[in-house]
Amino acid sequence: MFLPPNPLHLRSLRLSDLPAVITIEQNSFPTPTKEKSYRYELSENLLAHYQAATIRRANQEEQLLGYAGYWLIADEVHISIIAVDPQWRGRGLGELLLQNILNLAYEHAAALVTLEVRESNQAAQDLYLKYTFEIVGKRRHYYRDIGEDAILMTIKLQSNHLYRHFLDQKQKQLHARLSSAPF
Ligand SMILES: CC(C)(COP(=O)(O)OP(=O)(O)OC[C@H]1O[C@@H](n2cnc3c(N)ncnc32)[C@H](O)[C@@H]1OP(=O)(O)O)[C@@H](O)C(=O)NCCC(=O)NCCS
Repeated sequence: MFLPPNPLHLRSLRLSDLPAVITIEQNSFPTPTKEKSYRYELSENLLAHYQAATIRRANQEEQLLGYAGYWLIADEVHISIIAVDPQWRGRGLGELLLQNILNLAYEHAAALVTLEVRESNQAAQDLYLKYTFEIVGKRRHYYRDIGEDAILMTIKLQSNHLYRHFLDQKQKQLHARLSSAPF
């Protein structure tokens, strides 16, 4: 697991985080995922892995800043979510959560990391493009709320030997960015 500089921390997402998760969901998505679905993901879905990015300051309660999740299906890591509290965006936390998933994908010896993202979600697409995800297709009307298309993006890990080195470089850069950001 990537170790972010203090006071930031990465850990597994817990059921006790769900009130904060639901608030971030409501502030982030046109159709927020319901608490019941997260309960299932955290308690019953054996394929699911969720992580939390938090801030812990002395004498203060730990605060959830963002979270991410993926399903490990055979040798594929499918990213189901990355979300950062709107008040904490633009400081490298989305990148932290994505880097952490990519590290975990290596630990699982995954061959492929995949995801779907709304066609209109430029911020998320730019995040994935920064990590050299490729656009490999489109699912028409995938998001039923407004019938929006999903863009499919993937990155191949096992057949791309230079990627581990690329990720190590990115981790050093992100560590420096997080160390100098006002947290
Ligand atoms: C997408 C999201 C997770 C990014 O989190 P963040 O902490 O603000 O992102 P970071 O500060 O780590 O930025 C990393 C990269 O993402 C991209 N990015 C982030 N915000 C962006 C924006 N508003 N516009 C364009 N690109 C953006 C950039 O490539 C950025 O790299 P840079 O800082 O070198 O320019 C955040 O905007 C979010 O939670 N959105 C709502 C939920 C969502 O749409 N999740 C993704 C779908 S599952």
